[in-house]
Amino acid sequence: MVNNFFALTAGLAATASAFDCSGSYFSMFNRKGLSMSAQRLDPALEPGVQSAHLHNFDGGNGIALDTTFASLDASTCTTARVKADNSLYWRPALYWNGNGTGFYRVTEQIKMYYKYQDGAGAAEVSEFPENFQMIAGDQLKRSDDGKNPAGIRWACHEPQGTANGNTKDPIFTKGGFPTGFTGCNYGLASELTFPSCWNGEKIDPKNPSAHTAYPNGSGKGTEACPEGFRKARFPTIFIEFWYDIKQFNGQYKATDNPWVLSNGDSTGFGMHGDFKNGWKKGVLAKAVSPTGGCRCGCGCGPEELKQCFGADGINDEKDENFAKCSAKPLFAGEDNLVVQKLPGCNPIQAGPGRAEVKTGPDCASSAPAPGNNNNGGAASSSAAAPSAPASSSSKAAAPSTKPTSTKKDGQMSIQTQNAGNKQPAVSAKAQDANGNVVYVTQTVVSYQTVAARRHRRHSHRNRMH
Ligand SMILES: *[C@@H]1O[C@H](CO)[C@@H](O)[C@H](O)[C@H]1NC(C)=O
Ligand SMILES: *[C@@H]1O[C@H](CO)[C@@H](O)[C@H](O)[C@H]1NC(C)=O
Repeated sequence: MVNNFFALTAGLAATASAFDCSGSYFSMFNRKGLSMSAQRLDPALEPGVQSAHLHNFDGGNGIALDTTFASLDASTCTTARVKADNSLYWRPALYWNGNGTGFYRVTEQIKMYYKYQDGAGAAEVSEFPENFQMIAGDQLKRSDDGKNPAGIRWACHEPQGTANGNTKDPIFTKGGFPTGFTGCNYGLASELTFPSCWNGEKIDPKNPSAHTAYPNGSGKGTEACPEGFRKARFPTIFIEFWYDIKQFNGQYKATDNPWVLSNGDSTGFGMHGDFKNGWKKGVLAKAVSPTGGCRCGCGCGPEELKQCFGADGINDEKDENFAKCSAKPLFAGEDNLVVQKLPGCNPIQAGPGRAEVKTGPDCASSAPAPGNNNNGGAASSSAAAPSAPASSSSKAAAPSTKPTSTKKDGQMSIQTQNAGNKQPAVSAKAQDANGNVVYVTQTVVSYQTVAARRHRRHSHRNRMH
């Protein structure tokens, strides 16, 4: 068996002072290979109808035209690593169209981090209420507009990182697709951070970021949230998307940009992600509790995750139910791996101005654009928000808080390692645009098998199976 992801070593961590693989967070890869489903649905922004563009979905298979907490709760399987997590995680699909013969959908594997750290200690956070959903990113963005609260970035990872004057690995671009390569030895990756402060309202599809904000203050729990968004503080979901682009290696020039997202975005700035809660009640609350929470950090292997979620709580590729978990697309053909045209009305719009939402038989009409969902804080509080409570069962009580360190998490460590080398190749640092602490700690070697979720204590052996 060949493991294609490998955890970084404790020894490597020790060589890089900025690197810390521990803290009040846990992380895990979802299932390898195809996402749970790929279809034109958007349970948060376009409930009940076919959505504007195709999304790749991971999580519970209780997805429907009208996806609810109840339908997710009734999922018969999930592609999330934790069995109790029937949440939906979705994002536009990435296509390669580098040789003019069609759009080739790129498979990806996502690594999800649940973080509840404030300064030096655990944040006081609540689990998500039923039916809570949110978005990170701005699908109409096509250039750097100076706002990127979700910290969306792309990278073509190379083994050397940026050490020794290597400029091939840009580590992370400021939002858009990187260029300058014809293959990425450690994978093409993007990442985003979800907001974690909530004003108690439902999502407004016309202004889908209005009910959430990013913590930007000092203090614990809701105290760190902008005013107006202190109804609840949730764990911060940070996701890395690892794209398997090997099959396209060498088929495009370093100056080309052969990538396009399913929303017609050929820049990468319009990357976005959505979350709809489907955690079994109580499980996440326990996993993020300041005492006794799950704290295996970036090195959560099966054993650590079992300690957190129970011996039978973790999905394994050996389980058929996990390996085959899927939901049949409601709209036939749109999930084909090769399409001649992006599903829906998604002409390629390369900016730099904001994209227009196209509709009509020839996709020639412009529809009203949804609100800029790039709001990063209380600035969004003036936006119209529905008055209905997000959930009748919402019990997201504001935790009592105490002021604490105002230390900002500003350092990001990206560590790559040569697959054939027991010694760390390099450690590279980059600033997280969002001020969130972010550890990219596993690298993609190939995508044939799933993550080697090895224990940090053992990872220095750097075994390849
Ligand atoms: C275009 O690229 C795809 C994906 O790698 C490949 O399968 C196909 O054969 C290529 N077509 C041509 C004409 O080069
Ligand atoms: C946090 O963001 C809000 C809204 O943008 C702003 O009003 C506030 O001053 C910010 N607080 C800090 C500590 O930066």
